[in-house]
Amino acid sequence: MGDRGVRFESIGHVEGAFGDHAVPEEIAATESRIVLAPHLAEGLTGIAAGQRVMVIFYFDRVEGYELLQHPRGDASRPKTGVFAIHTPFRPNPIGVTVVDVLAIEENVLRVRGLDALDGTPVLDLKRV
Ligand SMILES: C[S@@+](CC[C@H](N)C(=O)[O-])C[C@H]1O[C@@H](n2cnc3c(N)ncnc32)[C@H](O)[C@@H]1O
Repeated sequence: MGDRGVRFESIGHVEGAFGDHAVPEEIAATESRIVLAPHLAEGLTGIAAGQRVMVIFYFDRVEGYELLQHPRGDASRPKTGVFAIHTPFRPNPIGVTVVDVLAIEENVLRVRGLDALDGTPVLDLKRV
């Protein structure tokens, strides 16, 4: 128990319009593509356009974290515990976002609502 050396392989990656940091709402307003490894495409069976899917992803462009941070980097707001906010700067840099599925094309999901940057590794998907 308590294995601190857990290792995951990504199942795919995000393709989107934002390659650098932007406010989440701005990224989420655009369409993104989740490109799965082709051998995993069968795992999308049962997911259809119009449904919602939870995307679990890896913040691959962050380094380090603080346990207390200003929400959204806004110094006018009081520092808050990392586990009470959605900052990418966290002990395990994992993001979770529920998105709308627009279409599925073989191993590619077209989605809206995803606030992950272009190239972000995707760790898992779960229909909600
Ligand atoms: C505040 S986080 C919230 C993510 C998710 N909704 C959550 O609650 O876990 C969203 C922000 O993370 C940043 N971000 C997205 N993908 C990233 C990546 N691969 N590496 C580093 N930062 C990323 C973007 O600036 C985006 O606005």
